[in-house]
Amino acid sequence: MKLLLKAVTIASAIVATQTLADSWTLAPEGSHLAYGTIKKDTVGEVNSFTILSGHVGPDGKAEIEIDLSSVETSVDIRNERMIAHVFRNAGTASLTAEFDMGEISTLGVGQTTAIDVEAVLSLVGTNVEFDAEVFVVRLSETSVMVSTNDMVFISTEDAGVNAGVDRLMELANLPGITRTVPVTARLIFNADSSQTSIAPVAPTAVAAVNGDVKAGKKVFRKCRACHQLKQGLHEVGPSLHGVIGSAAGQTPGYGYSAPLRQSRTVWTTETLAAFLADPKGAIPGNRMQFSGLRNAKDIADVIAYLQAESQG
Ligand code: HEC
Repeated sequence: MKLLLKAVTIASAIVATQTLADSWTLAPEGSHLAYGTIKKDTVGEVNSFTILSGHVGPDGKAEIEIDLSSVETSVDIRNERMIAHVFRNAGTASLTAEFDMGEISTLGVGQTTAIDVEAVLSLVGTNVEFDAEVFVVRLSETSVMVSTNDMVFISTEDAGVNAGVDRLMELANLPGITRTVPVTARLIFNADSSQTSIAPVAPTAVAAVNGDVKAGKKVFRKCRACHQLKQGLHEVGPSLHGVIGSAAGQTPGYGYSAPLRQSRTVWTTETLAAFLADPKGAIPGNRMQFSGLRNAKDIADVIAYLQAESQG
């Protein structure tokens, strides 16, 4: 019996909600880090840093570098005084924090969440630890925005810059500058695409495959050592129930390797054929201990069988 497999249509939403990049890079264009100062009890001013860079690793560790010489107070002489006296020409400050990327990765495009982070600001040789609630928006499949949910207050004493603020008061002949500084941040991160081994496949790119279901059942004996077709029945490998059209590495109840889980692959007849021909080459680092099927007909047949089984 011959069965013509139809092109598998993939809702783009499946791809969007189930992908997770290994690492993210800060997009300086949309990002913004500012703090407020109040002088003479009444005059509030906003300063910001125009040069930021940063990265979030696969472990969720974020490191943001702040170019202190890029401080913008709207007045040149004030910028210079700030850099010289408060930041003591230190060059850069760093902000490190840990994000729960697991939680962020489950966000669909347009969805939001609030999470608590512990952060450390390293400024001119002093580390200031603080907790902040951040608001996360999944802007697109490959970008997230993280912003402070409330203001974060940092004490100038904890940050070791009190003497510098004293000096500013002297220089500007000011009776007072507040010693706690509200900070707000909006950081945009883009997924590092180099980490992606297989890009999601557009529905139109899925070719039809001719396969013989009966022959495919025989080929599947090789897979049975590790896989069952019954839903939820995971053995050495995950259940392959309804695998065609599903996002790779996302079936609940099975502990996938990170390379498979994060591969951003959707199992179409094409991606599955490439995977079965060379499991190690198609998704490097995955844990399927199977050398692959050498025969193209075997591959087409077993895919036809998997397709027929998940329809029945
Ligand atoms: C020796 C055991 C073993 C054999 C034989 C085997 N697999 Fe796998 N397979 C696995 C394991 C383990 C995983 C999970 C890999 C990971 O998490 O990196 C897997 C994953 C898969 C996936 C990804 C499933 C998902 O939910 O994303 C597919 C598809 C698959 N195997 C198909 C097959 C087919 C078809 C055959 C037979 C031609 C086969 N496998 C043979 C162990 C095996």
